Amino acid sequence: MNIFPYKETKFSPTTRVQRGYNSNAKLLYNFFYFCNMILLTGGTGLVGSHLLFELASGGRKVRALKREGSNTATVRRLFSWYDPQQGDELFDNIQWVDGDVNDIVSLQECMVNVEYIYHCAAMVSFLPEDRQTMMKVNVEGTANLVNVALLNNIKKLCHCSSVAALGSPQKGNKVTESLVWKTSSKHSWYALSKYGSEREVWRASEEGLNVVIVNPTVVIGPGDPGRSSAQLYQSVKNGMKFYTSGVTGFVDARDVAISMVKLMESDIVNKRFIITSQDLSYKELFAYFAHFSGTRPPKYKAGRFLSEMAWRAEKVRSFVTGQKPLLSKETARNANVKRYFSNKKVRNALQMEFRPISEAAENTSRFFKKYPVYLSPDFRMPS
Ligand SMILES: NC(=O)c1ccc[n+]([C@@H]2O[C@H](COP(=O)([O-])OP(=O)(O)OC[C@H]3O[C@@H](n4cnc5c(N)ncnc54)[C@H](OP(=O)(O)O)[C@@H]3O)[C@@H](O)[C@H]2O)c1
Repeated sequence: MNIFPYKETKFSPTTRVQRGYNSNAKLLYNFFYFCNMILLTGGTGLVGSHLLFELASGGRKVRALKREGSNTATVRRLFSWYDPQQGDELFDNIQWVDGDVNDIVSLQECMVNVEYIYHCAAMVSFLPEDRQTMMKVNVEGTANLVNVALLNNIKKLCHCSSVAALGSPQKGNKVTESLVWKTSSKHSWYALSKYGSEREVWRASEEGLNVVIVNPTVVIGPGDPGRSSAQLYQSVKNGMKFYTSGVTGFVDARDVAISMVKLMESDIVNKRFIITSQDLSYKELFAYFAHFSGTRPPKYKAGRFLSEMAWRAEKVRSFVTGQKPLLSKETARNANVKRYFSNKKVRNALQMEFRPISEAAENTSRFFKKYPVYLSPDFRMPS
């Protein structure tokens, strides 16, 4: 039995082309969800902002947890990008509340009248100096959230994990949901933090919380250009010269949002799903970005040797200048790994197809053409 039926929205392939939507239907929908307050964490981030739009444009009542001083300007722009007529109004309907996943009192306060939770807040970093904070936000923060959710009898929680939290396949095989994680020195601290946070969610499910977990590959879409995977597009646009030999999965941010809502609004519980569209080499991804932004694609291949040299050189530069390194050992090594992913489980469960990454790259590029990024002269993108 469905908790409530999935409603087609602006992101849905079937309704994407339709402009506007029936206001009576919207009213009815608001009434239907009057008691179902949804809480979302990480709403200012790439994944969370797309999910916020998917929820808000479907007429759902959403409360978004943000940290004090967090900037919501990109989210407003994103809403106007996806819905030029009603984006501002939809954005204003969101109930923003200040809080932090490491502040239990704030979590308790923001869960009043909440029935469903989407958890997208996390720190995404591969820099050694961020390790401690990342473990605190991702693992301890998730533990706090699920503990307060259990206390508040939350009906269901959808956790945004990552394929970094999955095990590795035998050579030549694709990554699937059933692979068992094995401790290894090859895992990045980000992967350890995502694995640790997933364990907290599984623990909560054992204690009675209904959960569903998504494990997206690299998410492509418009967002804050200085953070998470949104940096990739800006790097190419700013004339990045090198590409690495790695292959990985990519997915459109809109499809991550659709999958999360569909999974939440289904009767599926205590399962996890890889959310991915296509496996591409970084060279192929950068070629899309270059094509749509009108720049030259990176020309030189940075193989393992060059990447190893580059992160060491960055470490020295960072030590001498006191600036954050643009490349870490973990990023350099990950960028040369070839991993392939299966999306069979989610396609079967939700009967959904994923947009090709060329579409995600075009969407990202068109957004930044409309809302150009003005970076300070000191700001340097990874090269
Ligand atoms: N992007 C990808 O390619 C990708 C791929 C797979 C999985 N994921 C997962 O998707 C989720 C979202 O990632 P993203 O790419 O959207 O990252 P993002 O753009 O960096 O956004 C991170 C979000 O987390 C919030 N946050 C950070 N620390 C917090 C804290 N202590 N308390 C409350 N909120 C906090 C940030 O809020 P502020 O505005 O206050 O900083 C921001 O809204 C993460 O779990 C990530 O692991 C991402």
